[in-house]
Amino acid sequence: RLPEPFTVPLPVPPLAREIAPGHFEIVQRHADVEILPGLRTPVLSYDGCFPGPTVVSRRGRTTTVTHRNELDVPTVVHLHGGHTPADSDGYPTDLLLPASGWTPSGHHAMHGSLTHGSRDYVYPCDQPAATLWYHDHRMDFTGPQVYRGLAGFHLVHDDEEDALPLPRDHRDIPLMITDRSFEEDGALLYPARGHDEPGVLDDFAEGVLGDVILVNGKPWPVLEVETARYRLRILNASNARRYRLTGLPFVQIGSDGGLLEHPVGHAELLVAPGERFDVVVDFSALAPGTEIIVHNGLGSGTTAAVMKFRVTRRTRDDSAIPAVLTRFERLEPAKAARTREWRFSRGRHHGERMWLVNGLPFDPLRADATVRLGELEIWRFSTDLHHPIHLHLNQFQVVSREDAAPDPLDAGWKDTVNLGPSDHVDVAVRFTDHAGRFMLHCHALEHEDMAMMAAFDTA
Ligand code: C2O
Ligand code: CU
Repeated sequence: RLPEPFTVPLPVPPLAREIAPGHFEIVQRHADVEILPGLRTPVLSYDGCFPGPTVVSRRGRTTTVTHRNELDVPTVVHLHGGHTPADSDGYPTDLLLPASGWTPSGHHAMHGSLTHGSRDYVYPCDQPAATLWYHDHRMDFTGPQVYRGLAGFHLVHDDEEDALPLPRDHRDIPLMITDRSFEEDGALLYPARGHDEPGVLDDFAEGVLGDVILVNGKPWPVLEVETARYRLRILNASNARRYRLTGLPFVQIGSDGGLLEHPVGHAELLVAPGERFDVVVDFSALAPGTEIIVHNGLGSGTTAAVMKFRVTRRTRDDSAIPAVLTRFERLEPAKAARTREWRFSRGRHHGERMWLVNGLPFDPLRADATVRLGELEIWRFSTDLHHPIHLHLNQFQVVSREDAAPDPLDAGWKDTVNLGPSDHVDVAVRFTDHAGRFMLHCHALEHEDMAMMAAFDTA
């Protein structure tokens, strides 16, 4: 019932509907989409497609996205990587309730702001060109709602990037990698405890993994390329799976938050949930007919392969990778006002198995820190297991891993950093512009839903 790998063409998500300059409209609705050839998969969708439509913004120009919830569950929209004021950042309890109405049952956290039907999310996009993404962030239900389809790209462009000779247009391709499991009839399989019941069955508490690898919503797809450079904006939007991508000569030009100062070559990319790697791959020296499979070195069986590139024909290519990509401001750890420690660990709270930050489960009414806008801080993350740690509001820079130099994969502006078991990582961060309450959390979505989040206030 699963397709032969590398037979389904890679689609590129459509652009979001722009109803006025800088104003997009997205309807969240139930849809049946074709993921496995010949089968219909019911999903929670942004505008009927999975991945959702791509929103495109310009640096420094406000983008408004009106979301209308025509689903039967509350949602929350978060622009991951966005430098966004708190009221549009998608705090997990700021629910967008279904237009058709919704009655909360007892266990639902009801202490955020509630909006019925439609809501404008306003993004100043005062940040460098970058590959961002938007996804659901509903308290206790982010895992199932993202798994069922609520994720899409949001690209920011700027003049500085436009002036570079990087591959563009049909040679600039976003790749959203996810893993999913399916029933025989094509329905998605998610081991929820029950309908509208938070959390997953105990066996899945470490994270839900699927046995089918999807790129842009298609299983092990194939992309035909010409003998040219391609820009690939790689996003791991999986709930919990990490990938070690191999097979292509990756030249990294950007990370989560924008361009790197200089391109960096990598033989493999370790990509944790939430992370983006903006890379250029040069197919120009390959003969037409050449095929390259991108493997996942951390997978086995069906999860060991991701997609295939097939070189079809010769072409000329004017693109290039400049040695200097952007003027990069390095944050100086020595100037930090303080160091804060955040420990991510498995634990129990009132007898229940949970994932904790500094020994506590998330409480949307509690701020775990208050930081001053404009002040540089070192945040030290430590763990017991693998956890991808994500901060809202501002991008950070990795200062050290295990007190040693960061990994080459840590370069640039990051909003998500992958931690291995017993790692500790120091990052330098300066929160700016927006006062309010924001989040940090583990981006393994089942950990996030089982309380591995914390809140900080900025003032
Ligand atoms: Cu991508 Cu707080 O999330
Ligand atoms: Cu985690």
